[in-house]
Amino acid sequence: MKNERITSGFSKLSRNQKIDLIFSELELDDAQKNELDSFLLSNKKIQKLLSEISENHISNFYLPYSIIPNVYINEKKYFVPMVVEESSVVAAAARSAKFWAKNGGFQAKIINNKKSGQVHFLWHENPDLLKSVFPLLKEEIVENLLPLTERMEQRGGGILAIELVDKSNEIEHYYQIDVLFDTVDAMGANFINSCLENIATTMRGFFNHPKNLYGLKPSYEIIMSILSNYYKDCIVECSVEGDVSLFSHASQQLTGEDFARRFKLAVDIANLDISRAVTHNKGIYNGVDAVALATGNDWRAIEASGHAFASRDGKYRSLTQATLDQNYFKYTLTLPIAMGSVGGLTNLHPLAKISMAILENPSAEDLMKIAAAAGLANNFSAIWSLITSGIQKGHMKLHLSNILNQLGVDYHLHDIVSQFFENKTVSYSSVEKYINTELIKHISKA
Ligand code: MEV
Repeated sequence: MKNERITSGFSKLSRNQKIDLIFSELELDDAQKNELDSFLLSNKKIQKLLSEISENHISNFYLPYSIIPNVYINEKKYFVPMVVEESSVVAAAARSAKFWAKNGGFQAKIINNKKSGQVHFLWHENPDLLKSVFPLLKEEIVENLLPLTERMEQRGGGILAIELVDKSNEIEHYYQIDVLFDTVDAMGANFINSCLENIATTMRGFFNHPKNLYGLKPSYEIIMSILSNYYKDCIVECSVEGDVSLFSHASQQLTGEDFARRFKLAVDIANLDISRAVTHNKGIYNGVDAVALATGNDWRAIEASGHAFASRDGKYRSLTQATLDQNYFKYTLTLPIAMGSVGGLTNLHPLAKISMAILENPSAEDLMKIAAAAGLANNFSAIWSLITSGIQKGHMKLHLSNILNQLGVDYHLHDIVSQFFENKTVSYSSVEKYINTELIKHISKA
């Protein structure tokens, strides 16, 4: 079927023309158009900056910008900025940050900080020939990369290794040039991709020159050159630990010992059951992604890497491990994560810059630790609720204001409703019922 309604040249239109086109095609009304306008910033300079970040921009989409106080990492206190839409995430992180602040804080360390990328290609000739000329090709690759790597080397980074990887038993004729990078404080995506494309150009020049291959003009095909978002060599570890007596007051019903035992069981379940593992890890990314967003980092890359890492032994598992040894509890998150503290949106978006200032301008490695601590804080709080009161009590309490806004309840009545639901179960229907019965009586009395 031929689609008759293809929109062409959309990106070339002005903002107003784009909106007019969408609104006339979809028959939306002027009030909706005004709504889009109302989310533009009055500061023209910053608005221009935001508008230019993405193609086809027509308005700004606001999300809450919040802070987790009391995040102690290796004895340093942080106020951690988070951007997240889910009502209970910041409260959950703040609860465990405060708990651990009183009990030793988070301990975080960088296990390694290397990124990789690959040139993927097909080689139709004798594999031994490729392997024998590779040292010469590598010399040329390194020489041609110099103009690109010079600045990174001055900053203490650069290329750490270049290897030929034979994958021809997985796909016929398939090989990779696998490159390992140190991008210091940058996330380094542009640097890595530029280097890889430069390597592909060198390969073409090298292979097309018969003198390099004993007079042969080989049959080969470069398929693509791209960084890998699988950060298996870019790992931060973050943990909390202590005697089980720390948990004596974590719940009214459980002893510290029982709390720790149930906690470990919940984590063990997430380690062996995929249905639970995905949700468990999602709770970790509630914190990690929110910090990534607030600091202008690429949360999609961070998530993708984490889920791949969670299945590194062939089975999808929890990213955390709990141990309980003679009443001593230790809980560790192992996170593959690339973060940049220079370059990209971090130095461009005004709020990302403020986030970096609030975090006292951390290095990329410190930022990795901070994101990991936020992830562990969120996950710890989730398990804490799950093995005690259940998740809905706290979550729905925080979700109450969303429900009230959806039902169009006046702001000055929100406190009355919150008080009523203080010790009751919140649900959309229970709130709606209360408003249509009790609250109406309350208002008419007043
Ligand atoms: C909700 O956003 C996250 C949780 O489901 C995480 C978990 O179950 O561990 C509460």
